[in-house]
Amino acid sequence: MKGLHMYGVSHSYGEHQVLRNVGMLVPAGELVCLLGPSGCGKSTLLRLAAGLEPLQQGGIVINDVEVANADLYVPPEHRRIGLMFQDYALFPHLSVIDNVTFGLRGMAAKPAHERAMEMLEQVGMTHHADKHPHMLSGGQQQRVALARALAPEPELLLLDEPFSGLDTNMRARIREQTLDVLKRSEVATLMVTHDPEEAMFMADRIKVMGDQGRILQAGRPHEIFYHPKHEFVARLFGIMNSVDGIVVDGQVVTPFGPVSAGTLEDGEEVTVLVRPEGIHLTDSETPGVQVEVQSTHLLGHDSLMRIRMTESVGPDGARLSAPEFHVRVHNEFDPALIYPINAHIDPEYAFVYPLGGGPIYDEPEHFDVDDEERAAE
Ligand SMILES: Nc1ncnc2c1ncn2[C@@H]1O[C@H](COP(=O)(O)OP(=O)(O)OP(=O)(O)O)[C@@H](O)[C@H]1O
Ligand SMILES: [Mg+2]
Repeated sequence: MKGLHMYGVSHSYGEHQVLRNVGMLVPAGELVCLLGPSGCGKSTLLRLAAGLEPLQQGGIVINDVEVANADLYVPPEHRRIGLMFQDYALFPHLSVIDNVTFGLRGMAAKPAHERAMEMLEQVGMTHHADKHPHMLSGGQQQRVALARALAPEPELLLLDEPFSGLDTNMRARIREQTLDVLKRSEVATLMVTHDPEEAMFMADRIKVMGDQGRILQAGRPHEIFYHPKHEFVARLFGIMNSVDGIVVDGQVVTPFGPVSAGTLEDGEEVTVLVRPEGIHLTDSETPGVQVEVQSTHLLGHDSLMRIRMTESVGPDGARLSAPEFHVRVHNEFDPALIYPINAHIDPEYAFVYPLGGGPIYDEPEHFDVDDEERAAE
């Protein structure tokens, strides 16, 4: 298979085990995002793929050539990889064009120059070729770093949080440009991020890593967002409403009505998680539970509100203690416009997990089902 294949990778720094039996498959032309919290081992996995860290257990194959296993270590310069880290790390004393030709030292000067100019054109930076890095904005430096990484036609591109230094608008623009360049080059790309939205935007596949250095779920962005197999994965995307309950007749009762418990057994104690956009507010014509809006905040494209059941307000107006829920609606929401307000749950945004955070499904010891499916495609 063209691309990157890592299998059974475990890694420890002294007594501290960082990676546990991690597998990874990145076919040529695909971008896989490794998504996980700070300190979970993302950079370690990338450094192992690059050969910047000696492999302790498992194996690494790039374009069908084994580059690391128990008895083998191919150094980074012979792995045909392009690397790009968070701080772009351009050489400050070299011009833009010299930065890009730096990786083409094996080539004669003229073709190297032509290749570097071709790459600068792809990222829209030809007219800055003679400038030095300090004369460029962060986004421009980032594009030069991408051109430099891609110039030697690597078979594998490893990106470690490449956009983290940029502001929101610049980030969105550079992400799109980067995707265009990558899709044209057919390179296999493994990109590390801790930003779930960035992973959703960029990735063909996402691998979610938990804080135990284990892959918790792998799949297409849609799968990760709409079918999170693990409570941890569901919670990656921001605020969640949470209700504890017990499975009765295949359902769990929540304040907004019953939710299907899927394959979980009757009598099991569970947590129901509902995304804020999964609680719909309507007028009283639509069946639901009557609620009161406690607060509403316009965030830009949507509004975030806190609500609670109307019954939780006593006859004298005193607030009885009752849980609050977060609700997200498009645009601005004026609670005065509809009264009374009813709420119901959209089952697509509700997930049920065993209490204590276990997975919904039994995971095999080597959890790489997605990779196996993909290899069979
Ligand atoms: N050279 C090292 N020696 C000892 N411990 C290390 C070393 N490099 C990383 N670690 C530890 O290993 C763990 C994983 O580090 P790693 O850099 O892979 O995390 P990460 O997922 O990239 O985090 P972040 O999102 O913050 O960049 C951390 O607890 C870190 O402190
Ligand atoms: Mg890191």
